[in-house]
Parts: sequence; C-alpha cells; structure tokens
Amino acid sequence: MEVTGAPSNDSKPAVEARLRDTCRVCDSNQLIEVLDLGRQPAANAYIAPGDLHLEEPKFPLTLNLCTNCGQAQLGHVVPADHLYRSYMFYTSTSQTMTEHFAQLLRTNVDEFVSPGGLVVEIGSNDGSALVTLLNDNVRVLGVDPSRNISVVANARGIPTIAEFFTGELAGEIYTTAGPADLIVGCNVLGHVDALDDVCLGLRTLLSESGAFVFEVPYLGDLLDRTEYDTIYHEHLSYFAVKPLAHLFDRHGLRLDRVEFLPVHGGSVRGTVKRGSGWSDQVAEVIDAEEREGRSDPGTFQAFAKRVGDLRARLVDTLVRYSDEGLQVMGYGAPAKASVVLNYCGIGTDLLPTVFDSTPAKQGMHVPGTHQPILDVSAVDEHGPDVLLLLAWNHAEEITRKEGWFLERGGRFLTPHLVES
Ligand code: TYD
Ligand code: ZN
Repeated sequence: MEVTGAPSNDSKPAVEARLRDTCRVCDSNQLIEVLDLGRQPAANAYIAPGDLHLEEPKFPLTLNLCTNCGQAQLGHVVPADHLYRSYMFYTSTSQTMTEHFAQLLRTNVDEFVSPGGLVVEIGSNDGSALVTLLNDNVRVLGVDPSRNISVVANARGIPTIAEFFTGELAGEIYTTAGPADLIVGCNVLGHVDALDDVCLGLRTLLSESGAFVFEVPYLGDLLDRTEYDTIYHEHLSYFAVKPLAHLFDRHGLRLDRVEFLPVHGGSVRGTVKRGSGWSDQVAEVIDAEEREGRSDPGTFQAFAKRVGDLRARLVDTLVRYSDEGLQVMGYGAPAKASVVLNYCGIGTDLLPTVFDSTPAKQGMHVPGTHQPILDVSAVDEHGPDVLLLLAWNHAEEITRKEGWFLERGGRFLTPHLVES
C-alpha cells in the first residue's frame, strides 16, 4: 500500500494520507481515477493568524470510480484525527437546515417508533435535532465522535456517546438500551471509510420493524450540476442509489424507499429496514440511473472536462472584473470554499476577503489560499461590487438575508458561474 503526504514541520509528526485501492462498497480493486483536484489542505483546517507562516499538510484529492459496482469515491484517506481534530463547534448556521432535520425526525418517529421506543442519531452534533423530541414519549441517544460537541449535547439533556458508530458500539448500545426503532444518519455515510462495519452496526441495532433513515448528497446532482466543490477529504463516498442498494443487501438490510431533496446541492433520503433486496420503487430509480449512465466512465470523463472548463472560466471572470475595477469578495467559508479557491488557485490578489456568519471561523483564514474570514455584518463597510457565493447551497437564505446588497446594485456569482 502506497503512502503519500507532506511533512508539516520538524516538531510535528508528518500527517500522511493512505491510498485506498479497494472499493468501499464491493471490495473489488477495479478502481479508475476520473478526477484530480490536485493536492489540497483539509478543507476545514482554518488557520489562525499566528499560524499562517507554518507549512500546511496537503493531500492528494482524487476521485475514483469503481467499474464493478459504480461507486464514486476518494482515492486517498486522510486520518480522521487530522480532519476532525479541530472540528469547530458550529450550531446550526442555517435556519432552513434546522427545520429540515426537525421535520425529518418528526415524520419518522410517527411512522416507526412505538411508545418508549429508542431513537438513535448517528452524527448527532450538539443534539439540536434530537432536542425537538424531548417532550415525546421516546428515548433518544446521540452518537458523535466530536468530544467537545458531545459535552454540549449531554449538558442540554441529550445523552450522547462521543465515539464513531461501529459494529462494536452498536452491540454495546443494544445490550444497554435495547434495539432502536429509528436510527437516523444525515450526511454521515459519505464520511465513513469502513461502510461494512457501519452496516453491521445497523443490522445489530435495528428492531424487527425499525428503520434506518439517512441522507447523503446525491451523485446525480453532483454530476449534473458539476458540483465538484462538494468533493473534499472528509467526503469519502459520492452515492448513487444502485451501489447503496447493493451495499445494504449484502448486510441483511433492504433499501425500501428513496426520495430526492434539494438540500446540500441535491440529496437523496433513504429508508432502510431489515431484509434483503430492494423495493420496486428503488428498482425504478436504479433503472433510471442505468439509463442516465450514472456509473459509466464516459459520464465521469465529461464531468472532469466541465470541472476544468469551470476553473478556467471562473478565473477569467475574476480577472476581467479586476480589470474593470470591480471589487470581488467571497460569501461563506464552508469546506466547499476551500476546494474552489485551492483548485482554481484564487488567492488574496483576486479575492482579498471572505465573509461568514460562523463566529468560530471569523478571524481565521481559509486553508491554502489564506483569505481572512470576517463577519457578514462587515460586507457593507467593505463595499464589494460582486460577492462570490461560495456557500451556494444556502443561496436562497443568503440572498434573502442580504437583499439590501442586490438592491444597491451588487451581484452574487456562484463558483459555477450562476448569477443572481
Ligand atoms: P455548509 O454548506 O453548511 O457547510 P459545509 O459545506 O462546510 O458542510 O456551510 C455554510 C457556510 O455558510 C457556513 O460556514 C456558514 C455560512 N453561512 C453564512 O455565512 N450566512 C448564511 O446566511 C448561511 C445560511 C450560511
Ligand atoms: Zn465497487
């Protein structure tokens, strides 16, 4: 197994990425590289001003396609403790997402949970979703590996285990709390390197008639909208429905229902039960994916070409704005921002500042390209003409909130060159 990565400095041990040469879903070694986004720092490794002179560890960011099962996935695994070590504590920055998760819990508790039944959330963060169930006649349990965040969750009355969800942990939960009627995992499966072990845990913990409900960004939307900036080291998998259905089936689980949602640039929500195979509705979606060529190497080659074209066009646009004397700044400093700026090589010369509403990010700098991150309340005093909408998945909420900027003649432009 090849090992790659860059040493940071003499005093710290080198952080190394591991090359993964087998598929996370079917274990075959029939992987082909379909996109190379270059060497990049961890997208959430924001830099404190005093650390700007230090060398940043950078890792290859390549996308592989498994030609056996159609799963799209990263070729390199950055150690989890490097990615999540300084995980910042952000309570729900988006009102829309908070309501979205509360709604998801409400609907599924009504459908699957018997009185006094157990609801487990994987990746429960500070418990802000589970807290909405506290007045219901159900038991709740959060699982989240981030220690500082789980302390907050426990303090607000959401019992939370500060560990990764594994087969072993699922066994312990089963022993102490019994089977779960509902297990929820939103935007967690994509972060998991050992998917087999998580499936084993689900199978262990689910009650006979219980359900696992998950959401993941949908590969079809990533391809159709060329959302290459959702590809970063934390996201190891990019799911289509077909590989998911096969994965669950191999573990005695049955993908029963899928629906498509607009969140995070396009997501799929799935409902999984104990059993095997998949439902007719899921079979129809898989047929559609086959017709759309979702696992064809040619689809990915065309995608990679569009990604390269977008980079050239975005840089051209920023240079043109600069020549015209227009001031461009960034709006939002999500992980996606780091991917776009690093891949396109957009430094502080073309984009001097980025604004973000998250207090913990303010005063820090974007990894790799080093733009300072300021509070969104400072947009007005800096007076940009154009805002590069790096948090484009929140476009509706942001353009509503910053309507004054548009009224003043300002323009938003996404990294995919969509203007508003
Ligand atoms: P998000 O897309 O949730 O995160 P990621 O891609 O890193 O998983 O991040 C959205 C970012 O945008 C977050 O840093 C906060 C910022 N933001 C604003 O600055 N203003 C806003 O109105 C909203 C909704 C988000
Ligand atoms: Zn595979």
